[in-house]
This record gives sequence, structure tokens and C-alpha cells, in this order.
Amino acid sequence: MHISELDAADDTEFDEFYEVYDTANRHGRCHSTSWAKPELRAAYRTPSTAHTRRAWLGRIDGAVVAAGVLETPLRDNTELAELDCLVAPEHRRRGYGRLMAGHLRDQAQRVGRTLAISWVFGGELDVAGQLVETSPGARFCAAIGLQERNTDVHRMLDLPVHPELLDSLAAEAAPHHAQYWLISWTDPCPDQHRAAYCALKEAMIAEVPLGDLQFEPERWDEQRMREAEAELIAMGRTRHVVAAATGDGSIVAHNEVLHAAHDPGRLYNWDTLVLPGHRGHRLGLAMKVANLRRVQRLHPHGRELHTHNAAQNAPMVAVNDRLGFRPVERVGEWQVELTMLVA
Ligand SMILES: CC(C)(COP(=O)(O)OP(=O)(O)OC[C@H]1O[C@@H](n2cnc3c(N)ncnc32)[C@H](O)[C@@H]1OP(=O)(O)O)[C@@H](O)C(=O)NCCC(=O)NCCS
Repeated sequence: MHISELDAADDTEFDEFYEVYDTANRHGRCHSTSWAKPELRAAYRTPSTAHTRRAWLGRIDGAVVAAGVLETPLRDNTELAELDCLVAPEHRRRGYGRLMAGHLRDQAQRVGRTLAISWVFGGELDVAGQLVETSPGARFCAAIGLQERNTDVHRMLDLPVHPELLDSLAAEAAPHHAQYWLISWTDPCPDQHRAAYCALKEAMIAEVPLGDLQFEPERWDEQRMREAEAELIAMGRTRHVVAAATGDGSIVAHNEVLHAAHDPGRLYNWDTLVLPGHRGHRLGLAMKVANLRRVQRLHPHGRELHTHNAAQNAPMVAVNDRLGFRPVERVGEWQVELTMLVA
């Protein structure tokens, strides 16, 4: 297999890359959240000081059969290399995935990285949340020496949620969070909330259950936030935020839902965080209900809302259960020192 770096500015090459990215991600899955082409293209073409994002194409007789992606965080987690190997379904089990993983390991080591991490579809879940069959990706990760150090469950909620359910959940939560007020905005974050929002983004990794993953808190500042907003705009994504503030105006909790213009039926729940010291007031439920009301009003064509939670994140899963989310996929968070990758 001949491996060459993707020139993301070249439309023809990008189309070849996207074809493998999309078919490999969708294969064998009913609920893949593979990005639309304009979204992925914009992500590759928007500059960032928070991470690098490079990709390689693997060709046999000129035709692209595999792709590899390497992302390196630049402001925090500077030992990490985020790896993704993708092989077109009709070209699998011929060693191309392993070759690409070896190439990514070498590239990551060349830029000084020591620790690999991969988020990988682990298999479909049945209605009871049981794994139907372990995915090729999970088997591949185990074969090349990665270790599953945390497990996420991908859940899905059919939209619209009935307004009566939202009303009753909001009414149930309201007496518990009477000393807080909910505020909302759509990107860009209003100037007066930027510092607080950066602090919440930094707290996120420290507060979510990570299992045995090595992942340090992210570092956010004004510039990173503006870059992230610019990237979302370029991708055609709109972020809606509901946050909770105390009487003195301090923001102590937030929930994010994204709408994708290029895939308008599908919405994504990103962060949901209540800072320690402010938990137990049903703010998680209240914010999610408020944001659902908001996005259902603004995006009436939304048909499904996707979220990922660590399997052991009982409080978040309990909130999601109340709203009607159902488990659809297992997602493994795999990690290992690069020197131990046997690709
Ligand atoms: C995972 C993926 C990249 C593997 O590509 P591939 O070219 O088939 O992988 P390889 O042929 O190099 O397989 C290497 C080893 O992984 C294991 N493996 C890969 N696919 C497997 C499967 N379907 N069942 C069991 N083992 C499997 C085997 O041990 C295999 O070695 P072997 O064929 O000598 O037994 C491909 O299935 C894919 O694109 N999946 C979707 C994206 C994904 O999950 N990527 C992983 C993120 S790093």
C-alpha cells in the first residue's frame, strides 16, 4: 500500500478521503454519526492553535483503500496522539489497517507524541443495552495492542419530545433549583460570559468519568473559544447553550446542543456539566429540558438527538433515561503508549 499525506485544500483528494471516511464509518452501523462532507472539509480547512489535524491516504494501484487521521492537541495533553484508521469495507482483513496504524504511530512519534488514544465504535446495542456483536474496530484495536480504558454508551432520543413530557419534567425540577436562574444563548458566546464559559470547558474533562484513561484537563482561553466558534460556523453547525447562574451571576453549569445545517435531522448533545458544589438541584435535568424546548422551537425538522456518556456516569444516564434516550452503540476509548503499538 502506498501512503501519502492528504492535501486537504485539493478538492479531488478530499473527495477520495471522504469516500473512505464515510463508508468505513457507516459500515455495519445503523446509528453512525459520520460527518457530512462539507462539515469535515471545513474542519480540515479551518486553522487552529488548539490542535493539528492531518490525514493520509493508502492507495493500491492508485485507488484509495484506506485513510488514517492523526490529531495532536497543542495546548494541553501534549503527549497525546489521537489516531483513527479507516479501511473501505471491501478491502478489509488484508493488513491495510495495521499498515496505516504503523504509519500513524511513526508520524506521531516524529512530532514527539508518546501516548495513543482512539475513540472506536464497539458494536450495536440491543434495546436492553446489551452488545449485539463486537465491532471490527474493537477487534482491530485489541489486535494492535491498544487497551480499552473507558467505555461510552451512545444514546439517541427521537425528536420531537412531547411538550407535555418536557413541561412535567421542568415542573418537577423547578422547586429544586429555585436559587438558580437559567440563561441561554446561541453561538457566539456573549462577551460577558466568555471567561465563565472557558472555566466550564476546562472543568469538563476533570469532572467526567474517564475510567483508566490518561487525559488531562483542557486549557481554554478567549482565542481558543473564538477559533472553535469559527470552526463550527464554517462547518454549518449552530451551538445552543443553556447555562445556570447563581444569584450573584456566576455561571456554574451548562448544556450544549448542536444543530448541523448539512444534516438537519440530526442534533448532538455535547457538554453537560454542573460544577461540584451545585449538584443535587436537578440543574442537569432542568438545563436539558430548557435546551430541548429551545432547539425544538428553532429546528422543527430535528428528528434525533445523539449523546455519548461514560457507561459508569450514573447521574447523567439517569437524566437521559427520564428524557427517553435509548442506548444504541458502544464506543470504546482505547489508549496505549505508542511504543507498545504493535502495528
Ligand atoms: C478497524 C479497521 C481499520 C481494520 O482494517 P483492516 O484493514 O481490516 O485491518 P487489518 O487487516 O490490518 O487487521 C489487523 C488485525 O486486526 C484484527 N481484526 C481486524 N478486523 C477484524 C474483524 N472483523 N474480526 C476479527 N479481527 C479483526 C485481526 O487480528 C487482524 O489481523 P488478522 O487479519 O491477521 O487476523 C476497519 O475495520 C475499519 O475501517 N473499521 C471502521 C473504523 C474503525 O473502527 N477504525 C478503528 C479506529 S483506530
